[in-house]
Amino acid sequence: MSTTIDSIKNITVIGAGAMGRQIAMTAALAGYQTTVQDISQDMLDAASAEMSGWAESRVAKGKLEQSAADAALGNLAWETDLERAAANADFVIEAATERLDIKRGIFESLGSLAPSHAILATNSSTLGSSKVAEASGRAEQVCNMHFFNPALVMKCVEVVRHESTSDNTVDVTMELARRFGKEPVLINREIPGFIANRVMGAINDESLFLYENGYASKEDIDAAIRNGLGHPMGPFELMDMVGLDVIDFIAQATYEETGAEEDKPNESISKLVAEGKFGRKSGEGFYEYK
Ligand code: CAA
Repeated sequence: MSTTIDSIKNITVIGAGAMGRQIAMTAALAGYQTTVQDISQDMLDAASAEMSGWAESRVAKGKLEQSAADAALGNLAWETDLERAAANADFVIEAATERLDIKRGIFESLGSLAPSHAILATNSSTLGSSKVAEASGRAEQVCNMHFFNPALVMKCVEVVRHESTSDNTVDVTMELARRFGKEPVLINREIPGFIANRVMGAINDESLFLYENGYASKEDIDAAIRNGLGHPMGPFELMDMVGLDVIDFIAQATYEETGAEEDKPNESISKLVAEGKFGRKSGEGFYEYK
């Protein structure tokens, strides 16, 4: 029996990191019973506290009714055990660490733990879902559903189908994104980085070229992109927000897959990562954060 959009009541998000917690809150705000699963109780506690704080500040700003905040927080459950988290899922969004072995293990487990009608989506921005689909034993119900950071704010969701993804899986995933208040776009064939990250990568590469070769400071490159092209953040500010470790990891994975010279990880970024400078989250990246 294939899933219909109206039969989806319970959503499970795997991973309570920066993306997973905001995806879960997005689903909870849209009225879905949402279970967040993470192997780390500390991570779940941090995610729960951050989402409560976010809801409180929205209410204080007058952007969210207290009753809506309470309802959304009430829709959230936090769980370390994957079996319990997946047991009633109608739709799963995996937002775990961006490592293929970990994701494949999760999809294999979900194949036996999630109800047979459940659609299994991965939030991965690099790994096409074909890489995990077979492990789940239900390849036609697997696709990418890629959110952007910060997921509570950014409107875009990239839905990516692989060769065996069914039309129903695509339709339901696109509609679910709309019910989350997002504006989904469809990628018909897998390509690493999909649309937005590929274009962002080109901007980052060019900005790094200008910076590394002394044509302009990072501050002036950021200012040119903000004030000249109307982007909300400059490329260096944005890389610091996304996380230099994430960018470096994505670059490594893409390079391993394509072997193309232009996909080689950037040395300035790899150096900062090796020094523990991951961007905003570690207090320093291209810029310092107090
Ligand atoms: N979490 C939740 N909400 C946040 C937030 C966060 N981390 N940061 C900002 N916001 C909210 C604020 O609460 C505010 O909401 P209201 O206007 O409703 O009050 C709104 O966003 C605007 O925030 P600010 O006024 O503080 O600041 P801003 O106007 O500069 O916006 C921004 C902040 C939304 C991050 C904006 O700068 C922006 O859009 N930047 C570009 C982000 C971007 O390109 N993201 C994609 C990254 S690539 C990616 O994610 C793909 C991948 O796979 C790696």
